[in-house]
Amino acid sequence: MNQHFHEAGQDGEIAVASLFNLKSREFSSRLITDPNIFELELERLFARTWIAVAHESELPVEGSYVARHIGRDPVLVTRSGGAFHIMLNRCSHRGMMLSRADSGITGLHTCPYHAWAFSADGKFNGAPFQRQVYGENLEPGCYDLPKARMETYGGIIFGCWDPEAPSLDEFLGDYKWFGDMLFRRTDNGMEVGGAPQRCMVKANWKVVTEGFFGDHSHLMGAHSSFFDLGIVKRSSTSIHNRKISVNGHSLLCHDYALYGLEGQPMEILSKMVPAGITADLLPQLEKNLSPEQLQFMGMTPPSINGIFPTTASVYMAGQGELLGQVTLLRFINPVAVDRTEILSFSLVEKDAPQAFKDFVHRTTFQNFGTGGIFEADDIELWQGVQRATAGVIGRRGMVRYPSMGTPQGEEAGCPGNSYRGISTDDSQWAFYEKYLDYMQSPSDGIGVEKGR
Ligand code: FES
Ligand code: FE
Repeated sequence: MNQHFHEAGQDGEIAVASLFNLKSREFSSRLITDPNIFELELERLFARTWIAVAHESELPVEGSYVARHIGRDPVLVTRSGGAFHIMLNRCSHRGMMLSRADSGITGLHTCPYHAWAFSADGKFNGAPFQRQVYGENLEPGCYDLPKARMETYGGIIFGCWDPEAPSLDEFLGDYKWFGDMLFRRTDNGMEVGGAPQRCMVKANWKVVTEGFFGDHSHLMGAHSSFFDLGIVKRSSTSIHNRKISVNGHSLLCHDYALYGLEGQPMEILSKMVPAGITADLLPQLEKNLSPEQLQFMGMTPPSINGIFPTTASVYMAGQGELLGQVTLLRFINPVAVDRTEILSFSLVEKDAPQAFKDFVHRTTFQNFGTGGIFEADDIELWQGVQRATAGVIGRRGMVRYPSMGTPQGEEAGCPGNSYRGISTDDSQWAFYEKYLDYMQSPSDGIGVEKGR
């Protein structure tokens, strides 16, 4: 690879592939500092892929809505007519942000500028004194809000602007075999513990995101105080795991074989009750998961998980008050090349007792809230990467993923590439390979309004 990267391809576009060395698994720091690349990401990735925007439980009644983002586009996620809708939070008159509240309940969204009104499914409803002010000029059907495609998986609502993109089902593909253990394991499913905790980080979205795609080795540096305090024993087995990379998505799983735990899956699951669920709900796992999934979940429960590109979950079933239970659901929004917003929810089984829900909510944020034990460590380091990379020499440096493992073959219906043993960089690199696929393919025309 040319160390003096091509600034642009022949057609004037940034040649993103020239910033990668796929063999040595490195890329140029420009990927995290260059505003032009950030703009290209918004076009080629965020406008074209499935992005998680809300949880169904946030929208319990007709007219419920939350304000979120897909890339840098503000969207309203609403419930209307028994369905969920995702529409651009931008008035079709002169472009004002239609709703500035984070959430609420209404059947009619009225623009604060000239008071055009839109129904909860995005249809233009009318303007004040419409006949006198506009005569017959407002053609019906021309001013509805642009709507993204909407699909759900395991209670999570995803949106996608690209009419040509594969369905969410296809996009998630074999990830669902694992995702079912996290989000679809009981009869009535899960709910969030309330509004998300929001936090703005001064770092590029990829720096914030990639840790959820299998970075176990940062435990040794970022969270070394856990070793210092004797909470976790400092040894190389602390970063042994079973890691799955599946179509760019990733799961980092505990490996109970390391601790000599064995037996029938339900026996293990009742000894080591998974995060976010109570023992009396465990029989439902047998109903909702296959024997192979139960076996996997019993011996290698998924812990740190990433759905490409910006959805993360963390499941940790600690016992005591210090770690407690962590069931975190997180959406990561790109704001600028060096700004990222994090939205964090606690997630718990709908049918769990309220006291348990309250406990999970408290200990999830105790660990992964903005000031949480883990989060405070991570945020400072993510921002440190951005600061150290912003300079003239720093941005010419490389970012490296040289730790390579050998995937084990498929076993017992478990899809994807499975790595076992000491943590490697494979699933993070798979994230960047998928990223590069998107970044190399043009995305002209998505969302272009023709005008009348
Ligand atoms: Fe919304 Fe004018 S910009 S009514
Ligand atoms: Fe961390």
